[in-house]
Amino acid sequence: MNRDSDKQAAAVAAVAEVQNGMLVGLGTGSTAAFVISEIGRLCAEGLRIEAVGTSLATEAHAREVGIPLRDLASVAVIDLAIDGTDEFDPSLRAIKGAGGAMLREKIVAAAARRMVVVADGSKRVAQLGHAALPIEVLPLARAYVADVLAACGGLPTLRGGDASPTLTDQGNIIFDCDFGPIDDPALLARRLSAIPGVMGHGLFVDEVDAVYVADQGVVERIERSAAPSP
Ligand code: A5P
Repeated sequence: MNRDSDKQAAAVAAVAEVQNGMLVGLGTGSTAAFVISEIGRLCAEGLRIEAVGTSLATEAHAREVGIPLRDLASVAVIDLAIDGTDEFDPSLRAIKGAGGAMLREKIVAAAARRMVVVADGSKRVAQLGHAALPIEVLPLARAYVADVLAACGGLPTLRGGDASPTLTDQGNIIFDCDFGPIDDPALLARRLSAIPGVMGHGLFVDEVDAVYVADQGVVERIERSAAPSP
């Protein structure tokens, strides 16, 4: 089994939670893409759902496979969100945003009654911090926020570089910030959220209700209720 088959196996297992009539949040990235394809296949077979996307790329993919879309701006409550992750720890805390969609992903996760993450086994870590933490920043706050992130113990790198910074779907810049092993994700999340100019970050402390993780073709579902508390 290669990594793509594991991503697909986790995605297909999670999509089994989707039921007729649901409003579904669709994640972003290569694992979430398998979710979108599978839901598209089921829609073609008669599944009746609506969805909201966490990025322009996801919306385009959903349209392509025939999933009816709602505008996120008009939606307050989502039944089920299914998204990928860059890493998750035993307490189901996660770092997301390598694809740059963490702000919309966080809004969709927060609005969702249930959020499940789909992952291959490489995303499982003992402690968060292997991946740099993506932070979405208002462009005019670039220097100020970089300074505060450094004061918080981070090493911020502007995604895309100074000459042509990568812009998010909202037109903001991204710092990939290396904090090393993160001892207290909840504290760091609170500190980041309090920085003026930070629009969002990829630290998901309590949004994830369950993870479907596939290793060598075997899918395991881990529920937050059964996971050790931090
Ligand atoms: C998008 O911004 C991310 O949060 C993705 O969900 C995450 O990077 C996982 O992507 P892959 O499934 O492509 O690894």
